Amino acid sequence: MTSNQSDRITINTADGTIELVFGEATPEQKAECFKQAGRTFVRGIPEDLWTNAEEQLDLLPLLQGKGCLHWCLYKAGTPKEIVSSLRAIRRELLIRDAQGVRPETSYDICFVATDEKYRGHGLASFLMRKVAEWFDGPGAVPLTTLYTAVGQFYVPFGWDLLPAPQVSFDLPPDVSRGILQRKREESPSLPTRVVGPHDVADLCSRDIAQLRPQVEAYDLAPDTSLVSTLPIPEQFEWYRGLAKLQSDSWCGGREIANVGAICDAADTWMLWHHDLRKKEFKISRVKPNYGDHEQTKQALVQLLLCAMEEAISWEATFEKVVIWDPNPEVIGALEILGRDMGFTPKSEMRVGTNHTSLRWAKDEKRQTVFWPNEYYAYN
Ligand SMILES: CC(C)(COP(=O)(O)OP(=O)(O)OC[C@H]1O[C@@H](n2cnc3c(N)ncnc32)[C@H](O)[C@@H]1OP(=O)(O)O)[C@@H](O)C(=O)NCCC(=O)NCCS
Repeated sequence: MTSNQSDRITINTADGTIELVFGEATPEQKAECFKQAGRTFVRGIPEDLWTNAEEQLDLLPLLQGKGCLHWCLYKAGTPKEIVSSLRAIRRELLIRDAQGVRPETSYDICFVATDEKYRGHGLASFLMRKVAEWFDGPGAVPLTTLYTAVGQFYVPFGWDLLPAPQVSFDLPPDVSRGILQRKREESPSLPTRVVGPHDVADLCSRDIAQLRPQVEAYDLAPDTSLVSTLPIPEQFEWYRGLAKLQSDSWCGGREIANVGAICDAADTWMLWHHDLRKKEFKISRVKPNYGDHEQTKQALVQLLLCAMEEAISWEATFEKVVIWDPNPEVIGALEILGRDMGFTPKSEMRVGTNHTSLRWAKDEKRQTVFWPNEYYAYN
């Protein structure tokens, strides 16, 4: 392992002066980074369970090759003593700017953590600056994203906060499968069916094929760039892997068999994620019929009934349904459904949690529209 002086930071603590080294994690350090992420973000789960889950997720296609990069600050002389770490996970994007529309690979930064004992010494700041330097240099990516839980913390390093809307509703306590099925039967012209893991690749390629012309046609203000995260199958597979691991821990290993629902007649579908840890049923992607807003809205009513049916089939696990970056058809469908079923959808901005942030390479400041940026775009 080599380093130069600019890769090092010295801090003064109650225990004395400590020198820390920045670097991309070695395989041994990666195992320590997993432990640090577990300690920081998932209290209440035994360390070996979390580390084992991390190792399994690490095998999924999204993270293969250069799909996941780990960086850390470790104590000079004892490389296994990780003090601060983060990881960056591959994203496939479509970018539209003055140069036209083009696919790009970028990264989403997540699991930024400093051990409690060493917080407030500028370590995470140092790490973010070093990582930004790498992305601007050897990494050569056009931009990076992250979803911040610590407000403005990342702004000085170039990550600007973007609007992060979401809509959610509590699952009505008295709703039953029978009620939901009867409601669906009231609209026989828009039949739906649930989709399984084997349908995802085909749905994603259809989704991406339809998305590109929408990106090209998007009514973009002058001097504004459009960034779209592509709904690639690997992204959904990662989420299913995560849900399965959570199911192994808390739901007796129940398979994640239903991953979404489709209304073929309306060419509209949604994919979802069983967020068993947060007890939230996340709609991870809504693919509308771009040519027919009214039909999309009516189809979404039916598809949301399917989502509710799946959510309640996990007994009392899920408390609410959450949709990021909702389009007007989603809002319209939820208004119809809420009136009908007696719930009030809650629209809000994600501030203080998962607040979307984006940094263009070399800290270039651009007006940016980030669309679509639904739950699938996050890790
Ligand atoms: C956020 C975190 C990584 C900062 O690490 P650190 O090494 O202490 O960071 P630095 O010393 O470089 O900077 C500390 C700054 O972070 C700010 N900060 C820390 N936690 C914060 C929070 N929850 N909300 C807002 N700001 C926060 C501090 O106010 C401080 O700001 P200041 O320099 O203006 O006083 C660390 O507190 C941590 O691991 N927190 C738990 C995990 C987490 O929330 N990670 C971020 C996920 S997006």
